[in-house]
Amino acid sequence: PVNLHGRNVLTLDDFSGAEIRYLLRLAAELKAAKQAGTEVPRLARKNIALIFEKDSTRTRSGFEVAAYDQGAHVTYIGPSGSHIGHKETMKDTARVLGRMYDAIEFRGFSQHQADVLAAYAGVPVYNGLTDEAHPTQVLADFMTMREFTHKHLSDTTLVFVGEGRDNVATSLAIGAAKVGMDMRLASPRSLWPDDAFCDRVRSMAEANGGSFRLDEDVNAAVLGADFVYTDVWLSMGENENAWRERIELLTPYRVTRALMAATRRPHTKFMHCLPAFHNAETEVGQDIARSYGIDCMEVTDEVFESAASIVFDQAENRMHTIKAILVATIGA
Ligand code: CP
Ligand code: NVA
Repeated sequence: PVNLHGRNVLTLDDFSGAEIRYLLRLAAELKAAKQAGTEVPRLARKNIALIFEKDSTRTRSGFEVAAYDQGAHVTYIGPSGSHIGHKETMKDTARVLGRMYDAIEFRGFSQHQADVLAAYAGVPVYNGLTDEAHPTQVLADFMTMREFTHKHLSDTTLVFVGEGRDNVATSLAIGAAKVGMDMRLASPRSLWPDDAFCDRVRSMAEANGGSFRLDEDVNAAVLGADFVYTDVWLSMGENENAWRERIELLTPYRVTRALMAATRRPHTKFMHCLPAFHNAETEVGQDIARSYGIDCMEVTDEVFESAASIVFDQAENRMHTIKAILVATIGA
């Protein structure tokens, strides 16, 4: 029997396939209960701190709505307004917040800071994205994959296309290896994760009946894919001077209608953690369009808006899976 009470969620490395499946089942139950109007609050009188050093739409909203649905209260601590980082260390912050809160979410730059927070808070710490990992995203993605395929996760093929070292790509690879999925990374070699990571993930995948493969040839990589997944070409906190180089390297890896057809599967779904550069309608999109003469990056507007796109189901499932984490780790 799986029991996750008191556990941190810093990376999926710390979780077994059985524990991941347990969280996905719990999330599906909680989603069904919310839809049926029969949700039972299991987080009454709990207080959760939400630390965000970087911007967020889905993760913050997911934590807040999940907490409120379950009867908990949250405090949002943004990039300014607290002493974190400039006047007080993470170690001291952890010991303060641990006295007041039942759990702490942390979105920031350094994975090490998340680890420090977890080491000293004495309450569960959830990684809401760091430069290295985005574990709560992966749970939402796997939940969504289950909803859109009749197959078990261990029988599905997921192909991530784009920056191979991306925090979402590497977190998906770890999660996929744990549940025995077939996962491929289609990326230019200069953006592949390091050999130690790839070897570790490959042996974990194979031990669980799955596989992990890297490929520079994007058309070959997507053949037979059930899901084609991509993310932004430059993540929050990366140097914006790298845009030109990334665009040059990654334009052949853009998810287009032709790439979706190259899967040779009629029902391949398109996934993206969001936010996405699929048009030039945003302020940042307009800057990119002006500077580089392109109006989309990792995915065309056509694919993003197509029936194959399940990106908003992923977004909704952020909330249900975060709720499962909260209930499993601090719920009554
Ligand atoms: N996918 C994701 O984490 O989105 P936010 O940055 O909006 O939280
Ligand atoms: N790789 C992206 C994911 C955003 C949810 C970033 O870190 O900015």
